[in-house]
Amino acid sequence: MSAGRRPGKAAGPWSAASAFVAAGPPPSPPSGSTYFATCPRGLEQPLAAELRAIGARVDAVSAAGVAFSGDRAIGYLANLHSRIASRVLLRLASGRYRGDDDLYRLATRCEWERYFDASMTLRVDVSAIRSPLRSLNFATLRVKDGIVDRFRARTGERPSIDTERPQVRVYAFMLEREATLYLDLSGEPLFKRGWRADRDDKGEAPLKENLAAGLIALSGWTPGTPLADPFCGSGTILIEAGQIAAGIAPGLSRGFGFEALLDHDAALWAGLRADAVRRVQAGAARASAAPIAGSDADPRAIEQARRNAQRAGLAPDALALRCCDVLQARAPGPAPGVVVTNPPYGERLELRAAGSPDAAWGEVGRVLKREFAGWKVFVLTSDARLPAHLGMKEKRRAPLYNGAIECRLFGFEIFARREDSPAPAPAA
Ligand SMILES: C[S@@+](CC[C@H](N)C(=O)[O-])C[C@H]1O[C@@H](n2cnc3c(N)ncnc32)[C@H](O)[C@@H]1O
Repeated sequence: MSAGRRPGKAAGPWSAASAFVAAGPPPSPPSGSTYFATCPRGLEQPLAAELRAIGARVDAVSAAGVAFSGDRAIGYLANLHSRIASRVLLRLASGRYRGDDDLYRLATRCEWERYFDASMTLRVDVSAIRSPLRSLNFATLRVKDGIVDRFRARTGERPSIDTERPQVRVYAFMLEREATLYLDLSGEPLFKRGWRADRDDKGEAPLKENLAAGLIALSGWTPGTPLADPFCGSGTILIEAGQIAAGIAPGLSRGFGFEALLDHDAALWAGLRADAVRRVQAGAARASAAPIAGSDADPRAIEQARRNAQRAGLAPDALALRCCDVLQARAPGPAPGVVVTNPPYGERLELRAAGSPDAAWGEVGRVLKREFAGWKVFVLTSDARLPAHLGMKEKRRAPLYNGAIECRLFGFEIFARREDSPAPAPAA
């Protein structure tokens, strides 16, 4: 069981969720189940679009997540194909509560034995918004007690608790008067794609894969358009883009929590996975349609990006990687495209032509304007003054969270150079 947090602050899989509105019984889908996918704050709309694309019915878009419904295949597909979700949860029970004992009763009424048995290990997490309860730790205990007592009453045995590597994760989420119990279908969070294998390959401050995918979605990039990241580090943004271009589902090289559940439909899952594998083969031809290019000043980062790309199933030539200072970064071809990047913060930018950090960022701005003329540039940063430092005026800004750090994705449009513009029509 995990330690709960103080009521009033959302925690656990909800990150800093602030408005999950789910009062009343869950809407009943035509056939199947109700789910909730969590995501980094600011990426709810692209997540909803992903879920619609796999055939889910989106029921509500709220802070840090999306409620959706569909049959069992939809739950599996969301885990396999969502690049932006952090977790996919199955909604099991919902009810009014006033105190901890109501949570206990809600937990004892839920048919857990349909999903797991007493031999499996369990972890319970609780999070809440405006809950009147004084201790979420105690609420967590009461939910756990309810689950365990139901098993003991029926079988004489109870699941044991494992907070490190549980086979089953249960989440309780409480609003002021309404509590909902969820079963986690994902297991390890979905941003763990399975290709960032060893600790050495994490690079300096790598982005979580689902945040990188969210930046790409917000940039509007699609395969067929060049993409560049001049601070690519371990290659997270480039690899997400490379997998999109090659049609590689993000969950193809990992396992999921639902595979251990008693009601798991192995034949259905095998079919959905096989479809995803076929899409990779079909996508391989498209993969090299436009360059996906990255550079970084650190040769170890470039080596990590290369190894990560290989483990992520990308062809050796899928990414054009180069070790160079940002001042030497060049567009990967004549066609304009999209830069998506998260540069180092403030003074961690190491420029050969040093000077003050502000002057250094001014240099970066000049390189972007000169070398990426006609491109769109999206920069994730926690520095609200970055556009001023770059000497560029943003066209868009989207608030986002990189873990607990409040960031913005600034979007710039760089004018095409004059000589690239069409010649003016001759005067009549
Ligand atoms: C925040 S990290 C990028 C992490 C990357 N998005 C990832 O997921 O791994 C910033 C990167 O900028 C690189 N960097 C710092 N100064 C640089 C410079 N002057 N030119 C190019 N890259 C630089 C660092 O080596 C680091 O890999």
